[in-house]
Amino acid sequence: MDGNGRWALARGLPREAGHRAGVECVSRIIEAAPTAGIGILTLFAFSSDNWRRPRAEVAALLRLLQVYLEKEGGRSISNGIRLEIIGRRDRLGEPLRHAIGQIERDSAAGTRLRLRIAIDYSGRDAILAAARRVAALSRESLDDALGPPVDLLIRTGGERRLSDFLLWECAYAELIFSPRMWPDFDAASLAAAVREFRTRHRRFGAVPEPLIPRREAWLD
Ligand code: IPE
Ligand code: MG
Repeated sequence: MDGNGRWALARGLPREAGHRAGVECVSRIIEAAPTAGIGILTLFAFSSDNWRRPRAEVAALLRLLQVYLEKEGGRSISNGIRLEIIGRRDRLGEPLRHAIGQIERDSAAGTRLRLRIAIDYSGRDAILAAARRVAALSRESLDDALGPPVDLLIRTGGERRLSDFLLWECAYAELIFSPRMWPDFDAASLAAAVREFRTRHRRFGAVPEPLIPRREAWLD
């Protein structure tokens, strides 16, 4: 979710107005995700590097997240959404931590969409924390300790970088960069990204199918 600030600036509005529009966009995208064929959706809401922003913007962002979680609670549950928060919790205020705990508990039975929201999240820190948790380091143990592998990563706002998001999980992610600012990203944009994803040939380091000699071809 990138581009809230520029979206607001282009309209002569304060950055916070862009973040508010960004939250409305979150609700629309969550509703559109299952229809687009998405089962797990992870949104990057607040990066561990976002603490470097001006205090007032950080406070506004965290406040918006809290209000969103408090409001969204009932709606998610009735829509079958299971919500999890990934990232550090120890630097968040108590009311936000409380809202997170509550919505995670209340939505745990949801099966229509697994929604993960990254707050105070750093991919590098997540890998370090997972490595400290596992008994024996291996690809498999880290796979288990981290989240599910990412199939499709969409970055809005025209930037073309990962910015410390799901680094391990994105090992074979297909990347789509949209020039749209996040508040303008809608159900049609999401559907278009999924359509493009479906045209990609994912080989995971192997050779394309037609280059593998068919068994019968060289046996005959
Ligand atoms: C993304 O919008 C929202 C968050 C990181 C929370 P930005 O705030 O990064 O918006 P731009 O990139 O300045 O336009
Ligand atoms: Mg940005």
